[in-house]
Amino acid sequence: MASDSQERRPRLRIDIITLFPEYFAFPLKVGPVRRAIEHGTLEVNLLDLRSFADSPKEVDDYPYGGGAGMVLKPEPIVRAIESVHTPESLVILFSPQGERLNHERVKDLAGRRHLILICGRYKGVDERVRRWVDLEISIGDYVLSGGEPAALVLLDAVARWLPDSLGDKDSALTDSFETGLLDAPLYTRPPEFRGLKVPEVLRSGNHAEIRRWRRKQALLRTLLRRPDLLETQTLSEEDQRLLQEALEEFQQASSEETRPKEEGP
Ligand SMILES: C[S@@+](CC[C@H](N)C(=O)[O-])C[C@H]1O[C@@H](n2cnc3c(N)ncnc32)[C@H](O)[C@@H]1O
Repeated sequence: MASDSQERRPRLRIDIITLFPEYFAFPLKVGPVRRAIEHGTLEVNLLDLRSFADSPKEVDDYPYGGGAGMVLKPEPIVRAIESVHTPESLVILFSPQGERLNHERVKDLAGRRHLILICGRYKGVDERVRRWVDLEISIGDYVLSGGEPAALVLLDAVARWLPDSLGDKDSALTDSFETGLLDAPLYTRPPEFRGLKVPEVLRSGNHAEIRRWRRKQALLRTLLRRPDLLETQTLSEEDQRLLQEALEEFQQASSEETRPKEEGP
């Protein structure tokens, strides 16, 4: 049987090493992150990098070899890592040169016990820090001014997979990527907005038909926007039929939309 201290332990603990702990103040109070923290499944600790430096000013220095920008020194970062590291820790450095964050990696991280996130700043971190890093993560092919926005992206995406973080726990199961497809289009009230109507089937109350429509739209959307996702899947015969039907309806709708313009003045 688990002891009291084990029971109280959060399922996932995340330590964030940053020069700007205040950056995280509001996002920790919102949405799935807040709910997971309140339910005790997530614990987030902010480690102020300056408090691990010999003096608050000694967190960065000029790059050897010259050139623009300052480089984060290795000592404070490694001290910060070592202050919280355990055999269960996974140390992640945010970097535009890292592995691109995706759905599978997010779920993998949500299943870990302890993440240590390092937010770089300025020109980046001293190369030697990489010896203490298990994984480098990028959130896309562009350069941010610091790792903090990347840490928030990871935190939010991971929190969605922790117990008790979502208002409706099944919501994540129908979101894009989890089904292997993009999510189907969504509608809410009013039934008509500026001449645009909600598809009749969604208001029919026929749940089997609604499920079929959603699957069909999800297949079509994925084919049109992210064909790469479909390439990795074997579609059932039913899915193939739905996709064929959706394509025909799409082509029909597109030709109807362009006809008046072609016939116009
Ligand atoms: C200005 S960037 C440094 C870029 C670095 N000189 C390079 O070109 O690879 C400062 C910090 O922002 C973070 N960062 C920038 N772009 C990122 C991205 N796409 N994904 C994750 N972190 C990023 C990293 O922590 C990085 O150390």
